[in-house]
Amino acid sequence: MVAVNSPWLTLLVLPAMMRGFTEATAPALVSRTSAAVPSAHFSSSPMKNFATSMHLRGGGERYSLGLRDSIMIAHSFTGKEFGPAQNMHGATYTVDVEFHVESLAPRLNWVLDIGEGMTMLKKVLGEYNFKNLNELFPGENTTTEFMCKKIFEGLCVELKGKFKGSITVKLWESHSAWASYTNDIGADGC
Ligand SMILES: *[C@@H]1O[C@H](CO)[C@@H](O)[C@H](O)[C@H]1NC(C)=O
Repeated sequence: MVAVNSPWLTLLVLPAMMRGFTEATAPALVSRTSAAVPSAHFSSSPMKNFATSMHLRGGGERYSLGLRDSIMIAHSFTGKEFGPAQNMHGATYTVDVEFHVESLAPRLNWVLDIGEGMTMLKKVLGEYNFKNLNELFPGENTTTEFMCKKIFEGLCVELKGKFKGSITVKLWESHSAWASYTNDIGADGC
C-alpha cells in the first residue's frame, strides 16, 4: 500500500491535480449533467418546476437545519477518465449536512438538537478523517459523490429512531465543486 504521508504534500504542491479541473473529466461532467436533468426542468411553468423539485426533496419538508464540519483524506482513482487524479492526492472536504423535516419537535421548536447532531456528525466523520480511502474501500473509486452516500449511511445508523425526515450530505471538494446525496432516514438501505 502507498505511504499515507506523501499525499498531503502532493495536494499542497499541485492543486491543479484535483479532479474536476482536468480537461479529461470535463466532457464526462457535461454529459452527466445533461442526462441527469429531468425534462420537467425545461417546462415553461415555474410552479411546475417548483412542485417537481419539492417532490424530489422528499415530500415538501418545510424546515431545514444545517451543520458543517470537515475531513482530510487521501486517495487516488483508477482509470484514464480521472486524468491526473489517478495520482495519490489529498483533499480537505467541507462537509455540510442538511436535516429536513415537515414540522418542528413539539414545544422544543427545533429540527434537531444541534449539539447532538454535531456529536453524531463528528463520530461518523471520524471513520474517514486522516485516512487513506483506498485502504478503507479497496474495490471502489472513492469519488466525492461516493463519500456523500457513505457519510449518509453512517448518519442514518445514528439517527434511526431519533429523527423523522430526510437529510442531504454535501461535500465540497474545493471552493468551486460539490456533490451531494439526499434520502429519507429509514429509507431502503438506510
Ligand atoms: C474505477 O474506475 C475505473 C474506470 O471505470 C474502473 O476500471 C475501476 O475498476 C474502478 N475501481 C477501482 C477500484 O479502480
